[in-house]
Formats: sequence, C-alpha cells, structure tokens
Amino acid sequence: MKAFTDVQDITKWRIRLMNDRNQIQVWDLFVRFFHWSLVLLFLVAYATGDDDSSLHRYVGYAVLGLVAVRIVWGVVGSKYARFSEFLCSPGKALNYVKDLVAGKPAYYTGHNPAAAWMILFFLIGIPVVCLSGYAAYAVKDMRPVQGFGTGLLSIGNAYADEEEKAHHEYPKKSRHAERDGEHEAADEEGDSIWSDIHEISAQGMWLFIFLHILGVTVSSKIHDENLLRGMVTGKKALKSCA
Ligand code: HEM
Ligand code: HEM
Repeated sequence: MKAFTDVQDITKWRIRLMNDRNQIQVWDLFVRFFHWSLVLLFLVAYATGDDDSSLHRYVGYAVLGLVAVRIVWGVVGSKYARFSEFLCSPGKALNYVKDLVAGKPAYYTGHNPAAAWMILFFLIGIPVVCLSGYAAYAVKDMRPVQGFGTGLLSIGNAYADEEEKAHHEYPKKSRHAERDGEHEAADEEGDSIWSDIHEISAQGMWLFIFLHILGVTVSSKIHDENLLRGMVTGKKALKSCA
C-alpha cells in the first residue's frame, strides 16, 4: 500500500514539474501588488470624488505614491517590469495594433507594444489626475502643504480674470461672483481651472481603462492564454515570442 502511495506522489510531482517547466515567472510580486492595489484604490478614489471627507484625498495620495514607486521599479525592478524591456516607438505600437486587427499579432512574453503605450498613458495620466486634485484642493484655500498653494492661486487668479471678463461680456451666463471688486481664484463653490482639469482627467481615465480591458480580453483570446490569471499568479505559459 505504501509503494502505491509513493507512485501516486511521484506522478503528481512529475506533472507539477512539467507544468512548472512550461511556465515562466513574468510579473514579480511588486508589479502584481501595484496592479491590484491601483485598481482598488482608483475605484475608491473615483467613488469618493464627491465626498467632503478627507478619505478621497488620502486614497488619491496613496495612488500617487504607488505610481511613483512603480516608476522607480521600472528602472531597478525585475526583467519584465523594466521600461527598457517594454517601452517602444509609437510606430511599433501602431503596427502591433494593425497586426492585432488582422488577427496575427506577434507574441510577447512581457507587455506587448500596445500595452506598453497604454501603461505609459496610465503612468502619466494618473499623476495628472492626482496633482490637479491637489491643486483644486489648494486653490479652495485649504492648502494641504504650506506655501505650495500660493503659485497655484496665481494660476487660478489668471483663470478667474478670464472668467470675470466673460462675466462682464455675458453677465447672465457667468456663474462666478465678484467679491468687493477683488479677483477670486475660484468661484463661489471654490471651483477653479484645477477642478475642471481634475474632473476631465479623472473621467478620461475610463477611456484608457476600457481600451486596457479590451486589449487584455482580445489578446487573451488570440493567444489562447489567461492574462488576468497571469497578473494574479505572475506566471505565463512558455511560448515562442517576437
Ligand atoms: C486617482 C486619484 C483620483 C481620482 C480618480 C479622483 C477622482 C475625482 C472625481 C471623479 C471627482 C468628482 C469631480 C466632480 O464631479 O466634480 C473628484 C473631485 C475632487 N478631488 Fe479627486 N480624484 C483623485 C485624486 C485626488 C487627490 C490626490 C486630491 C487632493 C489632494 C483630490 C481632490 C479633489 C477635490 C478637491 C475634488 C473636488 C473638485 C472640485 O469640485 O473642486 N482628488 N475627484
Ligand atoms: C478588472 C480589470 C482589469 C484587468 C483584468 C486588468 C488586467 C491586466 C493585465 C492582464 C495586465 C498585464 C498586461 C500585459 O500582459 O501586458 C495589466 C497591466 C496593467 N494594468 Fe490592468 N487590468 C484591469 C484594470 C486596470 C485598471 C482599472 C487600471 C488603472 C487604473 C490598470 C492599470 C494597469 C497598469 C498600469 C498595468 C501595467 C502593470 C505594470 O507593468 O506594472 N488596470 N492589467
């Protein structure tokens, strides 16, 4: 009976070894932690955008911190996490998309050229959302960090000048109030150009997210692999690539 159990164990062990041999570790622990924390925190930040509590800001700072560490990791991290491994020219990404549409894209173990550009847009777009949110907050005169609000206020003032001009030219259309003849950086609710940039960039992220999920789905189908599982386990099937 003991010998039979040993044979079963050896068979299981050999199957596992064969599976392991056909798999390659692509996404390191940090990349996976970064990805799923980013998804969660981005959704929380988005959902709390209209809240008056400080949760929205702190979640936004956490998102910004994650992206900052990911940028450093793109230089010092493991092979497939490095920018030098996946960043490419826009032409290469366009050719990849053409091949994808034609149903014959090359296989990449790490990020494909289109995914690489999508990641670049995320890593630039997310800081734009967070920093404009910070500026919108600072202009509301709540100054999260002493001193930094001053420069932002002058930009807000320049915007307010334009708004005020519009107020004189089209008094009925303008929502903005004049207080004691002074130019205000923000309107009655404290909204400034930063609020607009913040809102537009936060909404714009959904276009990237939609394209990202579409790309992951199409690529998984064409190459018959589960990219979503890869981002969880870090492993991908070993295939010949471009
Ligand atoms: C990925 C991170 C973030 C996302 C997705 C996000 C998203 C949003 C959304 C959807 C709104 C509502 C916009 C509207 O309908 O009026 C909003 C408002 C706001 N957010 Fe964020 N936000 C982020 C980070 C931040 C950060 C880091 C700060 C400040 C430090 C911030 C400060 C604000 C402020 C002050 C408002 C009110 C804007 C206004 O009406 O003036 N946000 N955010
Ligand atoms: C449930 C929805 C999502 C799924 C299934 C998903 C899946 C994936 C997969 C499979 C990859 C690796 C792509 C490749 O093989 O080249 C990836 C990378 C990435 N995704 Fe997502 N994603 C989702 C949502 C999001 C969202 C909402 C964001 C941004 C807010 C995002 C940002 C990123 C970034 C920045 C990378 C690059 C990761 C790195 O190299 O560090 N993803 N995603």
